[in-house]
Amino acid sequence: MGLVSGLEVIDECVSRGLVAGAFNTTNIETTMGIVQAIENTGVPTFIQVAPTNAVLSGYDYIYDMVSRRLASVDVPVALHLDHGRTLDDVSESLAAGFTSIMMDASGYEYDENVALSQQARGLTPAKYALEVELGSIGGKEDDHGPELEFTTDPAQVAGFVEATGCEMLAVSVGNVHGYAPNVRVDMDLLRKVQEASAVPLVLHGGSGLPSEQLARLHEFGVVKVNVASDLRNAMIRTFGEAYVANPNEYSLIRVSRQAVTAITDVVEARIRTFNPKIS
Ligand code: 13P
Repeated sequence: MGLVSGLEVIDECVSRGLVAGAFNTTNIETTMGIVQAIENTGVPTFIQVAPTNAVLSGYDYIYDMVSRRLASVDVPVALHLDHGRTLDDVSESLAAGFTSIMMDASGYEYDENVALSQQARGLTPAKYALEVELGSIGGKEDDHGPELEFTTDPAQVAGFVEATGCEMLAVSVGNVHGYAPNVRVDMDLLRKVQEASAVPLVLHGGSGLPSEQLARLHEFGVVKVNVASDLRNAMIRTFGEAYVANPNEYSLIRVSRQAVTAITDVVEARIRTFNPKIS
């Protein structure tokens, strides 16, 4: 099938009552682990990379790696720019072949956020999906965190969605990036945001949230849940454990394959949690 647009993933999920996982890749092992889980479950999915991780290889390499692996996969998958911060991030990832875009101007004042999101809309072809963020999600991703953390104001949602022309809205409702103790989504606030939004919602920070909340997100208009730390931790843990078990370990391929399996297990468990009816 090859890569499809973000819009196709959203439409398919909305029509089938599914929630798409959005899993961050950095390298070949992570990509192979994610795609194996997608094949095991058959659920439409986003594979994504943020500019902070694309520095390792560049957008072209990520596109080549992901699209080559997906050529033989019969499940809709989009390649998404996660947390684009500048218009250059948007145009460079689109030029590389990405099929779904996030512009994250949530650190700016409301009017500036609208203006930058509108410019990203102008760059993003209508056939692709644009995700924007209202409210600022706390925690850290790749050592980067927001200066301010504040929740999404339901009173601003309808106007923001209309002004930006987005297809997905990322929300700050208690979710944070990375691992933090006792993180919970404020389900009452999520409900208020859902009621005000004309488009499906995106929840960032999927790694640290309790499973019983993740399993209910489909009832709250959420179509995409981002997960990064769990995959990265699975990879780092696999290599760390291999070294501790044998400091003379030299088989990179053996440990790399163990890492792929560890990542598949994490991703598949998450996809099944988000979609209790397929489990
Ligand atoms: P976690 O690292 O908490 O899973 O968050 C990932 C994320 O939201 C990427 O945008």
